[in-house]
Amino acid sequence: TTKLIIDTDPGIDDAMAIFYAAAAPDIELLGLTTIFGNVTTKTATRNALRLLEAAELDLPVAHGAEQPLVLPPFEPSAHVHGDEGFGEIPAATPKGAAVAEDAADFLIRMAREHKGELVVCPIGPLTNIAVAIQRDAQFVKNCKRIVIMGGSLEAGGNITPHAEANIYHDPHAAEVVFAAAAGKVVMVGLDVTLKILCRPEDFDAIKERSPDLGGMLKEMSVFYIKFYQEVANLNGCSLHDPAAVIACTHAELFETRVVKVTVSTEQETSGETRVAEDARGDTHVAMGVDAEAVKSLFLKRLSLLP
Ligand code: BDR
Ligand code: CA
Repeated sequence: TTKLIIDTDPGIDDAMAIFYAAAAPDIELLGLTTIFGNVTTKTATRNALRLLEAAELDLPVAHGAEQPLVLPPFEPSAHVHGDEGFGEIPAATPKGAAVAEDAADFLIRMAREHKGELVVCPIGPLTNIAVAIQRDAQFVKNCKRIVIMGGSLEAGGNITPHAEANIYHDPHAAEVVFAAAAGKVVMVGLDVTLKILCRPEDFDAIKERSPDLGGMLKEMSVFYIKFYQEVANLNGCSLHDPAAVIACTHAELFETRVVKVTVSTEQETSGETRVAEDARGDTHVAMGVDAEAVKSLFLKRLSLLP
């Protein structure tokens, strides 16, 4: 099994990714760390706790950075994931609370305790990962892999014409992470995630087999798919965050290119991920995917949930 920590900004597809990890027999989830992005970090922590409680998982949640490294304070926009991150599902107060350690310290400690075994899967902006790298020069080395949902080499952006949302919200953090990649970083970006589409009837099937948690995902997906319908005229949604979690255990379903990734911090193109042609490649970028296999794994395993 893969020892996994998900760094997340829940978020509808984040919820899908976390429930997938909860159901996957080949994943040992060690905890969640939280970050702003789809919502504020405060809401992300609350949502992470709610998701774990819904899945009856007693695992640590570590609260992450509340602001980007360099950019001005962050304001979430509600139109993709709703005011509270889960579409129209109302806000609720979790029973538990975050641990005392912050996200970066938790990640550093877990990477030390599970040296060479821990896979970190950031599915939000990369601030916590950058802070962990800045605090501990051995952090990347101690991880087995860091599998990022973010970026785009050829598919264009989704928040601006140039940038994917997770990288856009903290391009300076992304730059720190890609600079430190050392062969350990895998980028699962729009080049592949846009190819994996889930339709309303797929979520109906999940709900049928898993009325509680699957039913929750179905309800969230309605809001998310409405957004895709409006902006892209698609009757379905991309499995961004679940694809990254699946890449943690099923690398064979992805075709990768090894390149040096840099990130634009210039105003016009901020958050664009680029290939530095003259530098030695050290990041595995997913460019191809067996979309049907990823999707069927996703649907099959979510159906295992209560
Ligand atoms: C990413 O941005 C967020 O809206 C999603 O949760 C995903 O992590 C896709 O660009
Ligand atoms: Ca996310």
